[in-house]
Amino acid sequence: MKEKFFGTILQSDKLAKYILETSAYPREHEQLKELRNATVDKYQFWSLMNVPADEGQFLSMFLKIMNAKKTIEVGVFTGYSLLSTALALPDDGKIIAIDPDREAYETGLPFIQKANMTHKIQFIQSDATKVMNDLQAKGEEGTFDFAFVDADKENYINYHEQLLKLIKVGGIIAYDNTLWSGTVAASDEDEMQDYLRGCRGHIIKLNSFLASDSRIELAHLSIGDGLTLCKRLQ
Ligand SMILES: C[S@@+](CC[C@H](N)C(=O)[O-])C[C@H]1O[C@@H](n2cnc3c(N)ncnc32)[C@H](O)[C@@H]1O
Repeated sequence: MKEKFFGTILQSDKLAKYILETSAYPREHEQLKELRNATVDKYQFWSLMNVPADEGQFLSMFLKIMNAKKTIEVGVFTGYSLLSTALALPDDGKIIAIDPDREAYETGLPFIQKANMTHKIQFIQSDATKVMNDLQAKGEEGTFDFAFVDADKENYINYHEQLLKLIKVGGIIAYDNTLWSGTVAASDEDEMQDYLRGCRGHIIKLNSFLASDSRIELAHLSIGDGLTLCKRLQ
């Protein structure tokens, strides 16, 4: 029987709405709310690229628990996960935030400024591979506590090799969208939108690759669109 895949990995859109309205939105930081609304106004359908509020809250709490101070953000868009990260870091925390799209970053920037978080962020308008090579050349290997990867899915395995050098032993690399609206468990005949079909293969390949990588400890979480946490072991 053909299955149909929706925009949520949960049992129903109603359940996703329930989590957001019950637990996430009432506790969402004012400027995150403003950034999210401004992104919907400008980007409409593609505002779905922002991580959802419940995942943002998970990231913030996780970063505080691990006492993260220095992080890399691969794929910024309008900065929902970036601002969630900045709000969780100490005042002298630092985020290298990379995205070729400056216009999207500048859509979220007024809210990052209003939240007094700009001093923690170094935005670099570029391709992530180039910036990560530069960071390695500058001697920044093993200096980052955390990386959040939410960019071009076809490059995640390449980013993994670079990030395993930049993150310190015991640090975490987090990959977003690793359940890809549930389509990782679909078959080719199932119904899904073209953008889902397009990247599905890359995510399936990544998940198998990470599962067999002995250099990391792994936890695959069903939050948001799927989030895989990888702890560097060696
Ligand atoms: C899903 S969005 C990121 C959303 C963001 N995490 C948030 O919560 O708002 C993906 C972003 O990756 C960026 N991107 C695409 N290719 C990239 C590359 N080679 N290097 C860095 N960023 C890239 C896109 O421009 C886009 O803004």
